[in-house]
Amino acid sequence: MNKTFAHEDLNAVIRQHSEWLASQLHSQRESMFPPDAEKNMRKFTSGEAATLLGVNDSYLRKLHLDGKGPSPELTPGNRRHYSAENIQELRVLLEKTARNPGDYLPGRRDGDHMQVIGVMNFKGGSGKTTTSAHLAQRLALKGYRVLAIDLDPQASLTALHGVQPEFDLRDGGGTLYDAIRYDDPAPIKSVIRKTYIPNLDLVPGNLELMEFEHVTPRALAQGNAGLFFFRVKEALSQVDDDYDVVVVDCPPQLGFLTMSALSAATGVLVTIHPEMLDVMSMSQFLRMTADLMDVIAESGADMSHDWMRYLLTRYEPADAPQNRIVAFLRTMYGEKVLNAQMLKSTAISDAGLTKQTLYEVERSAFTRSTYDRAIESLNAVNDEIGQLIQKTWGRS
Ligand SMILES: Nc1ncnc2c1ncn2[C@@H]1O[C@H](COP(=O)(O)OP(=O)(O)OP(=O)(O)O)[C@@H](O)[C@H]1O
Ligand SMILES: [Mg+2]
Repeated sequence: MNKTFAHEDLNAVIRQHSEWLASQLHSQRESMFPPDAEKNMRKFTSGEAATLLGVNDSYLRKLHLDGKGPSPELTPGNRRHYSAENIQELRVLLEKTARNPGDYLPGRRDGDHMQVIGVMNFKGGSGKTTTSAHLAQRLALKGYRVLAIDLDPQASLTALHGVQPEFDLRDGGGTLYDAIRYDDPAPIKSVIRKTYIPNLDLVPGNLELMEFEHVTPRALAQGNAGLFFFRVKEALSQVDDDYDVVVVDCPPQLGFLTMSALSAATGVLVTIHPEMLDVMSMSQFLRMTADLMDVIAESGADMSHDWMRYLLTRYEPADAPQNRIVAFLRTMYGEKVLNAQMLKSTAISDAGLTKQTLYEVERSAFTRSTYDRAIESLNAVNDEIGQLIQKTWGRS
């Protein structure tokens, strides 16, 4: 036997490493995001505000000079800067005299059903959370009433929205698990919190969500899980009047949480990083999903949905192998692949490092061309999804 190695118990080593890592991460976070740090949405230049609203900047200036609507902040040089709240107030004002109803408040009208968009793929790192966060924020800035749900125990979407599970969700509760548990579920409203972005609410996540994966098999064995896959759908039905769109960020696994999100979804977005290994694992993901959905359909569930799309993420147009895969996917799946693709950009990953989306950081934080390229790509993706939502409601 080789005596040069001291024997160590693997569990002890792993525990030690976990503790080191946790404490390092904790102190890093303390310095970058003190527990009492409040996140804010940045202000928008008058040009950005006009583009978001779909009007001319000169019209916004006229409204301001006529004393109509909110008062933007005036910076030296008389530049007008609008907060996200100002933009929402302008939407309400402009909608009153809109040429077509919904020009400024594009959300649901009588008879339109709430859209529930599940962002999924069991491949880790395929861009689910980045996609969910930017989609939810863009839709909220565009005037939709949005609920973002973090269904991933890793809680990245939660952290991106300034909620730190360790500090802000004391005694573990406060996630969607409270509302979907089998014994004594809480009203979903008790776990919904406002964010610093008007129109955007959040249900945070944390490790407690794992509980659903653990207790569902037990509940199924005891015959009291009911239609477990409808837990999320039932919880959402309690707030059906309050939102236009719900965006659900799923965990990178095909467990009971993801299945429940899939059963609640009216729209499904599968994120794909166009590389061979990812595409191979996606084939597995699709087959397993289909198998599981067959089982659910057999127990009487309605598997119809409004739309399902693939979104290419972290795409590098200059990368030849990626382009081959993109062409291959587009040929195979046709219109099911969104035309817009999320480009890989250091602006997006750098913003993520400081727990921000690209919508939250100032343009001046990056080289202009880098920022513009990234934001154009994100807007194109999110606005194409916005069009799908409108189409579902019978509008073009
Ligand atoms: N378009 C992009 N450009 C550059 N970096 C990106 C882009 N999209 C995502 N990333 C980075 O890639 C990493 C993984 O992205 P993300 O967390 O969105 O994936 P995920 O599918 O949610 O992962 P998980 O499966 O672990 O939940 C993150 O560090 C993120 O900042
Ligand atoms: Mg994620």
